[in-house]
Amino acid sequence: MTTRIGILTGGGDCPGLNAVIRAVVKSAAKRGWETLGILGGFEGLLQLTNTRVLDYHQMDGLLYLGGTVLGTSNKGRFSGKAGHGETRQIDPAVLAEARAGFESLGLRALVVVGGDGSLTIAQQCFEAGIPVIGVPKTIDNDIEGTVVTFGFDSAVAFATDALDRLRTTAQSHERVMVGEVMGRYAGWIAAHAGIAGGADVILIPEIPFSFDSVCRVVTEREAQGKHFTLVVVAEGAREAGRDFVTVGETGAIREARLGGIGAVVASEIGKRTGKETRVCVLGHLQRGGSPTTFDRLLCTRFGAGAVRLIAEEKYGYMVAHRPPDTDAILITEAIGRLRTVPPDCDILRTGRALGIGFGD
Ligand code: F6P
Repeated sequence: MTTRIGILTGGGDCPGLNAVIRAVVKSAAKRGWETLGILGGFEGLLQLTNTRVLDYHQMDGLLYLGGTVLGTSNKGRFSGKAGHGETRQIDPAVLAEARAGFESLGLRALVVVGGDGSLTIAQQCFEAGIPVIGVPKTIDNDIEGTVVTFGFDSAVAFATDALDRLRTTAQSHERVMVGEVMGRYAGWIAAHAGIAGGADVILIPEIPFSFDSVCRVVTEREAQGKHFTLVVVAEGAREAGRDFVTVGETGAIREARLGGIGAVVASEIGKRTGKETRVCVLGHLQRGGSPTTFDRLLCTRFGAGAVRLIAEEKYGYMVAHRPPDTDAILITEAIGRLRTVPPDCDILRTGRALGIGFGD
């Protein structure tokens, strides 16, 4: 009987999901295995018609296609996280139904491609008896145990390009431009794109900021004859003593939707410095589109690595980028402890050495 494996994509999408799917399908096919795509995230395990056999020959073009051909979801009966470090136990009846679904599909293993939330669900599925392999995805780059997640490089490349564009218009109009990027608990995108894009101020969730400090950079630049300033703010950045700026209400199960801190920062800088100030929210543009060369390669290595782990029966493991190798770590070593930007890391030291303000 042909060996059959399953794959699903969970949580927010990001560039490179399709490249992982392609690599899994192709390397499984090379072993003579069949791959079944579970559609719509974990919920697809509960509706067995929600699957699709992924043929080797259908994989053409997926390497660079944005989004996920399997669809995804971060809500429903599997929602496993309500906030930073808060893990919700999924209803055992739902897990049992998922296991029954997995078995009736005749699968040997399930590849789960997702971020901290999806990997947390994957671990619970594993504990409920489903042989699972994880692949770490997220533009936020906040998963422990891997040097980088896929999607991050593509998001940084997009954000850097956007900052280049904001800089020229800021300079032309002698304005302060505030670019809001994604980054809920971790400011990796803001820090990397901010430095690569020549920002003057970078505000990240890990460093509570004060407006005195932010505005000092603007006024000092004015005094030096530099009449424009480029500010990058992660959506999860906070003024010291204040909470996240959110859009809409926080659900009991889902994490609050962040957004709006850029407008708050721009308005306060305008009031305090008298400078004309504008904000640009990059939002989901950072999650769409084609993966960069780096991400295509990383996704391909992750996909091939996941199939290798199935062959070795290393279930409950996740592929991890540990140059020069694609390694395997227990999913439990990766979840529940987000990898944030350490205050003394080289990327921040580099920014500070160049005189970039971090709002502290
Ligand atoms: O986790 C990735 C991420 O893009 C965060 O940076 C952001 O806060 C969140 O997803 C947005 O999710 P949604 O698209 O569900 O609003």
